[in-house]
Amino acid sequence: MVNPVAVKSLKLTVLVEDYAGYGSKFWGQHGISVLAEAETPSGTYKVLFDTGTSHEPVLHNAELLGVKLGDVDYVVISHNHYDHTGGLPGLAKVLGEGTPVIAHPEIFKVSYAFEPHLRYIGPTPNPTALRRAVEDAGLVWLLSKNPMKLFDGAYTTGEIPPQEREGFERDMTITVFKEVEGKLVRDLIEDEIGLAFVTDEGLVVLGGCSHPGIVSIVKKAMEVTGVKEVRAVIGGFHLISASEERIDSTVKAFQDLGVKEVYAGHCTGLRAEAALQKAFGTSFKKLHSGMRIRFG
Ligand SMILES: [Fe+2]
Ligand SMILES: [Fe+2]
Repeated sequence: MVNPVAVKSLKLTVLVEDYAGYGSKFWGQHGISVLAEAETPSGTYKVLFDTGTSHEPVLHNAELLGVKLGDVDYVVISHNHYDHTGGLPGLAKVLGEGTPVIAHPEIFKVSYAFEPHLRYIGPTPNPTALRRAVEDAGLVWLLSKNPMKLFDGAYTTGEIPPQEREGFERDMTITVFKEVEGKLVRDLIEDEIGLAFVTDEGLVVLGGCSHPGIVSIVKKAMEVTGVKEVRAVIGGFHLISASEERIDSTVKAFQDLGVKEVYAGHCTGLRAEAALQKAFGTSFKKLHSGMRIRFG
C-alpha cells in the first residue's frame, strides 16, 4: 500500500487502565480500554479498543469524562484474555445495535495460566457466554486473521504468527496454554491483533497486552499501512516479567524505528516503564484511567 489517507486528528481517551492516576477520581482496574475518535476526510469515527476486566469501571470513568459509547462505530478486541474481553458483555448493552466487533477467529479459545496458580484466563464467564452476550445485544462479530481497514487511516494488524515475529520476541514473556481438541497445548497467542492509525506525523499504534511483542506489532502495522514513521506506541507491552535483555532490546528497537512518543501501562511493568522513561524522557508517558491523548 502506498501513502494511505491520514486521519485529520485522533483523540484517544483511556477509559480504564491498571493505574487510576495520582489523586484520581477515576477507577483503575486490571486491563485496558481505550476509546479512539478519529476525524477523517470522510467523517468522524469512534473505535473502542478493548473493554477491561468488567464494564463497571469503564462506564463510571466514561460518565466522569462525558464520553458517550452509544455511537461507537467499531469495537476492536486485541485478544481473548479476560482483562480485555471481560467488559464486553456489559458494554454491548450500551453500544449500538449492528456495531461490528472485530477480533481474531481464535477469540473464543479456552486458555489457562499455570503460574502463580492454575486459573482460567479466557473470556469471562466463558467463551460461549461472551459470544452470545454480544449477539443478544445486536452487535455483530467480524472475525478475521487478516488485517482490516476500518476507514481511511485506521487498520487492524491481523495475526502476527510466531515465525513472523522479531527474533528477540519469539520467546513469550508469559506461559499460557489453550485447549485444542481436549488437550492443553502451549498458547503462542496467535489471536492478538493491534490497531493502527495513520496520522500526518506517522503511525499511532495500540497494543492490548502485546503478547506477540510490541515491536512485532509496530512492524506489522508498518507493513500493513506502508507507513514507515511511528508517531506513538501505546498500550500494555507485557514486559512485566521480561528479562533485562528483552527490555533493552525493546527500547533499542523503538529508538531504531524512530518512535517519537511512548505511552505505556497495563502489563508493561515498572522496570520496562523506567527503561522507556529513561530513554524517551518527556516523550514517555505512563498510561492511567481518564488520560486523554491528542494527535493532530
Ligand atoms: Fe492484558
Ligand atoms: Fe493478555
